[in-house]
Amino acid sequence: MSYNLLKGKKGLIFGALNEQSIAWKVAERAVEEGAEIVLTNTAVSIRMGTIGELAKKCNTIVVPADATSVPDLENLIDKTMEHFGGKFDFMLHSIGMSPNVRKGRTYDDLDYDYLAKTLDISAISFHKAIQVARKKDAINDWGSIVALSYIAAQRTLYGYNDMADAKALLESIARSFGYIYGREKKIRINTVSQSPTPTTAGSGVLGLKDLMDFSEDMSPLGNATAEDCANYVLTLFSDLTRKVTMQNLFHDGGFSSMGMSRRAMKTYGKGLNMRFDDVHDNHYPFGHE
Ligand SMILES: NC(=O)c1ccc[n+]([C@@H]2O[C@H](COP(=O)([O-])OP(=O)(O)OC[C@H]3O[C@@H](n4cnc5c(N)ncnc54)[C@H](O)[C@@H]3O)[C@@H](O)[C@H]2O)c1
Repeated sequence: MSYNLLKGKKGLIFGALNEQSIAWKVAERAVEEGAEIVLTNTAVSIRMGTIGELAKKCNTIVVPADATSVPDLENLIDKTMEHFGGKFDFMLHSIGMSPNVRKGRTYDDLDYDYLAKTLDISAISFHKAIQVARKKDAINDWGSIVALSYIAAQRTLYGYNDMADAKALLESIARSFGYIYGREKKIRINTVSQSPTPTTAGSGVLGLKDLMDFSEDMSPLGNATAEDCANYVLTLFSDLTRKVTMQNLFHDGGFSSMGMSRRAMKTYGKGLNMRFDDVHDNHYPFGHE
């Protein structure tokens, strides 16, 4: 269903690799809501993935760029403005990768060259993209910039490794640049902290399936899907959220505010010599999960 939320708006979307990608869903929904978009990814990801199909569907171009390379980003912003015939309104950073995770290096045995790459790809690239866009005055006043984050920035989750540090830096960049770009151009910058989601990057997280089951059990609304995430991101690109900036916005079915749910307690109580069902049925006669 379309609400024409983004009618007349133009945006640049980083990070659609394949149909599972969160950026893919955002691109599809943005176009459904009336936006024009330009897509970008690394040359390798363009070759390995299926972004060409998305471009066809969205009637647009794909500009190759490594988001850690300032010259690539300069070329990308120039090409994007050329395509649109001027400035644009929104930008999505949906990029994450950790060579330490990929190579099985644990957090207490990090390779520091890999760590530098993790931070550059997953966080500093956000700074670079914003800095290049600002220097080229590429984004219209009251524009909106969003990056995708994860709760491992605030809480320790087994196996998330150096990506936790990258997400903490990413969220900090949103605040620091949000102040500057907001003050100057009323451009807002936020991060959306999304539930675990089955994508290519997601499947790199140790025990993704178990993590998804855990957060599904803990969240009163259940995990947010990639489609749910796209819908939320669209609201942040729309004119309905013009005073929301420098925030890390949890989009996780309530997970981030939970301590323990009944569903999780039932699961984790199984090994204990206690009858949780009885205890809970007495305490919660209405059967809340
Ligand atoms: N999947 C999850 O569980 C989850 C949860 C919360 C947040 N996120 C975040 O969502 C974002 C998108 O990930 P996804 O889950 O859609 O996975 P994905 O694998 O589909 O997307 C990751 C993208 O990053 C791109 N990328 C990697 N290195 C790059 C570089 N140097 N330059 C430009 N692009 C590069 C990849 O090509 C890919 O398109 C990431 O920031 C991820 O951390 C994912």
